[in-house]
Amino acid sequence: MQSRLISFDARLGIFRLLVGQNFEYTIGLYRAKWPVLLHFGKSLGDLSHQPPSFVFDSIPAQTREFAVPGENERPSAPNPSYSLQRIPLEFPAGESGDLRSPAYKAFEIVSSDGIAKKPALEITYVSHRILDGLAPKVTETEGVLPGGRVPKDAYATTLELTLEDRVTNLRVLLYYTVFSTPDSVLLRNVTYVNANSTHKIHLARAYSFNLDIMSSSTLDGNGNHAPLDVISTRGSWAREFGLVREPVANTFSIGSRSGISSHQAWPGIYLCPSTTTEYSGDAWAVCLVYSGDWTLTAERDEDDGIRVQGGLNSEVTEWTLEPGAQFSAPEAVLAKSETGLMALTQTLHSFVRESILPAKYATMTRPILANGWEAVYFNFDAKKLEDLAGRAGALGIELFVLDDGWFGKRDSDNSSLGDWFVNRRKLPEGLGPLVDNINAKGVQFGLWFEPEMISPDSELYRKHPDWCLSFEGRDRIEGRNQLILDLAIPEVRDYLFDSISAILKSANIVYVKLDHNRKFALSGPGAHWGKGRDARYTGYRHRHVLAAYTLMERLTTAFLNIHFEGCAGGGGRSDYGMMSFVGTYWISDDTDAVVRCEIQHGCSLFLPAMVMSSHVSAVPNHQTGRITTLKARTAVAMSGVLGYELDLTKMTPKEWDEVKKDVEWYKERRGIVHFGDMFRLRAAYGSRGSMNEVSIVYVSKDKSEALFFYFRPMATANQKDAVVRLKGLDSGAKYVFDYYYDKIRRTMTGRELMNRGLVAPYKRGDIAPVVAYLKREGTERL
Ligand code: DGJ
Repeated sequence: MQSRLISFDARLGIFRLLVGQNFEYTIGLYRAKWPVLLHFGKSLGDLSHQPPSFVFDSIPAQTREFAVPGENERPSAPNPSYSLQRIPLEFPAGESGDLRSPAYKAFEIVSSDGIAKKPALEITYVSHRILDGLAPKVTETEGVLPGGRVPKDAYATTLELTLEDRVTNLRVLLYYTVFSTPDSVLLRNVTYVNANSTHKIHLARAYSFNLDIMSSSTLDGNGNHAPLDVISTRGSWAREFGLVREPVANTFSIGSRSGISSHQAWPGIYLCPSTTTEYSGDAWAVCLVYSGDWTLTAERDEDDGIRVQGGLNSEVTEWTLEPGAQFSAPEAVLAKSETGLMALTQTLHSFVRESILPAKYATMTRPILANGWEAVYFNFDAKKLEDLAGRAGALGIELFVLDDGWFGKRDSDNSSLGDWFVNRRKLPEGLGPLVDNINAKGVQFGLWFEPEMISPDSELYRKHPDWCLSFEGRDRIEGRNQLILDLAIPEVRDYLFDSISAILKSANIVYVKLDHNRKFALSGPGAHWGKGRDARYTGYRHRHVLAAYTLMERLTTAFLNIHFEGCAGGGGRSDYGMMSFVGTYWISDDTDAVVRCEIQHGCSLFLPAMVMSSHVSAVPNHQTGRITTLKARTAVAMSGVLGYELDLTKMTPKEWDEVKKDVEWYKERRGIVHFGDMFRLRAAYGSRGSMNEVSIVYVSKDKSEALFFYFRPMATANQKDAVVRLKGLDSGAKYVFDYYYDKIRRTMTGRELMNRGLVAPYKRGDIAPVVAYLKREGTERL
């Protein structure tokens, strides 16, 4: 089985990994020492005609003037003239003559005072194995480190390369995993092993991967050299996922220092020649499966090649390995496309559906829910909640989520986090009767928690002031009036699991929203490490992430029937690590339809629509003050997982009728959004004409149905109708399509729709939505 996906050619000294049905990742052993990347692209086919010098031959010859040689030259060497400076290394070290950034920095601590250190520099090949299944991951006892799972009905094969530094005995295990699925990604894992029997080894940098993209592979479709662009999504709270495409001029670097993967940047990037478009050209994607502090960098080298690397953010997280100890870095996901950015997106979407989300969510139709947050914030009682839920039920909405404010004595954001018991002043009868009454209206019930936090004004804090993270001798810093629990303390996790479980068992709760609303900020030395821990420098943030994963795993496996939604003040932790435990994510607190167009577009680079909760909220919008039509808000929300977040008891009869119809219409078609393939058709933001269009089509896997969306985010005057060419349809079939808002019905063939296009009528107003449902007519083919 394994030989089909990964093979070792001993004669040529190369490892060949099949990445899906289209690509091959070829690693060579340069001078039998250095693993180098020979190729990441379409298959190289039969290589039996190649001479044993294939690895040398595959790396463009270089003059080595003024560069430090890779080793002292011997006249007998087949190619004496090499320097590591210009070789595509799989795991580069410092001090090696390679002047680019190293993938790790490690020191053996040779004196008991920790001052004398020997660097681990020459990590070279020792051996390899080809393993069935996924890469093993080693964490400290309490840790869970998520990563891609083997897709259903598929298998995984992993290449393990063992490298070692003979002086310090730091051993590095490089893992490469591929799946037997046609659109497989390449998973990369690294485990650092202290194979030194007497001394500690300190990891000052322990990245997850290195990818050297040679300048020879950054060519445009005509074979001309094209500078490489990097695409990332950046922003802030309520402005997540702003897409930025920029040339890698020198060194590009993004990451998080906030303890969570952050609102400021999502932990993944695309790289592509500047000529690559949505549907043409080469592109690479790299994402980290991690929810804490991370780094991704792209460094342009002297030949215009790009070194991409990343993993744990070494500015805030270092790690010390005791003799014999091991440390696995977070997983990195690599994907390749030679047909543009959209194909890369689709590979990542399949990966999220099949390998990241817990299996039950892959085929689960997402409910249409009403969330109470923007409807009532902290101001409610049982009657108000039952009214809201009753209204939701009458509209066909399936689930009501009670957000913040139901526990302790919480009336604002300055108390009670950690007190996971019902606020009896607001809900005197408790949750049981409330949920029963809501269920009786035909509506399911969900509840909000923020497990990792503690309010200084809480019973929990009064009882356990030592349970929060803080630095000894320094004032604590509160964010949103709250502190962070030290989840690495097992009693803390047990308390959270027990108190949350008791609530979940106390009523018929089928949905849980897990939030996280503050960043890490505990500056200064002398951290409080929790009970029974030694003070290893700056590892506490990583330990917190591992412990949070552990808690999530415990909760999600104990309550298999509950649908979990992730949230961190909106999209602050919507990375693949967190997505390994939830089925949907609240990707932004900004519910303004205009802003959402851009947020959802950026988000689509990494996450499929089936996880993207998107709610219709009130106007003026609570975040921006903008007023948009109900149609505009609904259409944008329908292009994700539709929900509502407004006071349903305050709607006009006209709005009522409209929402009722929308809910029914979406229910019948939501499977296309949740499970279909997404195609971005237009995405331009500005205030004028063609600079101001967003269009998407979702096509069901069997191509029998499609949902088309077209928005002009900002109202513009005097424009023509737009004509948008669709993608992904069955070219030989006829499609009948109905415009939802425009009372137009047409029939066109897939070929016409994809080659000539579908008309999106011009309308006034922001968003000006055009939504069309396309259905293949019979099985007739033309
Ligand atoms: C931040 C979330 O993003 C909101 O949706 C809401 O749950 C609040 N927290 C509650 O405090």
